[in-house]
Amino acid sequence: TRIGVLGVPFEEGQPKVGVANGPDAIRKAGLIEQLTTIHEKVDLKDYGNIKYEIMADLVDEIQQNIPNMKGYAHVASCNQKLSKEVERIIRDGRVCLTLGGDHAIAVGTVDGHIKAKNEDLCILWVDAHADLNTNRTSSSGNVHGMPMALLASELADYWPYLPGMDWQKPVISIRNVAYIGLRSVDSYERLVIDKLGITAFGMEDVENYGISTVVKMALDRIDPERKRSIHVSYDIDSLDSLEAPSTGTSVRGGLTLREGIQIMEMIHSTGRLGAMDLVEVNPSIGSEQDVKRTVDAAIHIIMAAVGHSRRGLRLKDVDTL
Ligand code: ARG
Ligand code: MN
Ligand code: MN
Ligand code: MN
Repeated sequence: TRIGVLGVPFEEGQPKVGVANGPDAIRKAGLIEQLTTIHEKVDLKDYGNIKYEIMADLVDEIQQNIPNMKGYAHVASCNQKLSKEVERIIRDGRVCLTLGGDHAIAVGTVDGHIKAKNEDLCILWVDAHADLNTNRTSSSGNVHGMPMALLASELADYWPYLPGMDWQKPVISIRNVAYIGLRSVDSYERLVIDKLGITAFGMEDVENYGISTVVKMALDRIDPERKRSIHVSYDIDSLDSLEAPSTGTSVRGGLTLREGIQIMEMIHSTGRLGAMDLVEVNPSIGSEQDVKRTVDAAIHIIMAAVGHSRRGLRLKDVDTL
């Protein structure tokens, strides 16, 4: 398995400081070392943290002409660079693992994934929230609540012209997107989900069917022929606040870590994970113990995505026979 890790210390998509330190907190807790112990065939490259320059000349114009998108110039500038980096890592033959940062960065990671694979792509969005607001429907103006609406082709007409975002093509159909873990959906987001018939599994579905059936049903909808490259955008707030307290918009009643791990073990076993984002870990929120628990949960989820099995290593993986 070839993996590329990329950190995106970005926090302008929401108001709480600290989420930019997510990538380093996850690394410091030993992510890279742990990934290489899964088995010898893990070929891992850490691309470090992304650096971008803000499109300074556009800042004033942008802030005036685009209402209700806080930090817009940062969002546009960072994602443009990020898309290129993700495309490069995937073209290098690696599964791109992006550590956030807030969820606004999924615009760049999904765009890069689409550009690298000239084929259909599907998205599994694991989140308490739908992140489906436009600047007209958002009551917060926080762009981390908008990435899915920026990506979906069906919503392209509902945005004003966005200067500095011309590189981003909203080519992914919302039919190729499934949500898991929803429990905090704004009223316009719900309207869009209902109107467009978006595949959305809330916590009540996890309760009713169990997590493995939910993942199977999600894949049946977004990848019926089992041939697409899968993009998992994993917001740590999909987990219950007791499991992942150190995040900016936590919601009670969420996934257990067991369910969160199961999702990624199942996705790994498809063999078609193309890219994954792990976002919204904020080491400035909560006690030291809260941070440790949250970072640890993130590492467990990533380990499952890369092939760590709770059953232990299979002999054929360790090459001793
Ligand atoms: N729906 C709310 C908003 O639009 C919250 C979004 C939270 N998003 C996230 N990526 N944690 O402001
Ligand atoms: Mn800030
Ligand atoms: Mn969320
Ligand atoms: Mn999110």
